[in-house]
Amino acid sequence: MTRRKAHAPANHETLAQLLYCSRKTRALPAGELRTLVERGARRNHGSRISGTLLAGCGLYLQFLEGPPAEIDALWTLLQRDRRHAKPVLVMQNPRGVSRLYPAHPMVYQGQVTPLQFTSLARDVREHVNAHAIWHLGPRELAQMVDRSARRQERTAKEPDDE
Ligand SMILES: Cc1cc2nc3c(=O)[nH]c(=O)nc-3n(C[C@H](O)[C@H](O)[C@H](O)COP(=O)(O)O)c2cc1C
Repeated sequence: MTRRKAHAPANHETLAQLLYCSRKTRALPAGELRTLVERGARRNHGSRISGTLLAGCGLYLQFLEGPPAEIDALWTLLQRDRRHAKPVLVMQNPRGVSRLYPAHPMVYQGQVTPLQFTSLARDVREHVNAHAIWHLGPRELAQMVDRSARRQERTAKEPDDE
């Protein structure tokens, strides 16, 4: 009997992972935000994309993972979306192996604190593999978030999203 080579798990897939941070151009009214999250989650599900979206401090931080072509296509759309601006790539991983959000097309969390932003980035860093390329270090991200939170507090004209 020939010995079979160890093979990849059944759910093995080529996975691209992405973490970006962007500035809100305006606070979204609750209904608009709900639509964004629901439609996004539905589309992500259809494209086998999973991840999480944090909103707060005048910023978004989104982690996405899925088939490389689907992630590329979504990243192109996201860069054109006027509801946010200046999306900055924090991390990209062209060769992820296991999903961090296997069962969730989009976990949304609003009114996020600076600490929660940096926690997500730190947790992603702990869990992704060595192929991940980091464009923004934890300190730089923390500074960006703190700056935005202070700006948000100073102006505080518009309430942040739900
Ligand atoms: C912060 C933010 C996060 C978004 N996340 C997703 C997402 O995860 N999936 C998605 O399909 N669209 C997402 N969108 C919407 C896309 O940018 C884009 O509008 C949508 O994919 C295509 O829109 P359309 O088909 O309505 O033109 C997001 C938009 C914003 C502002």
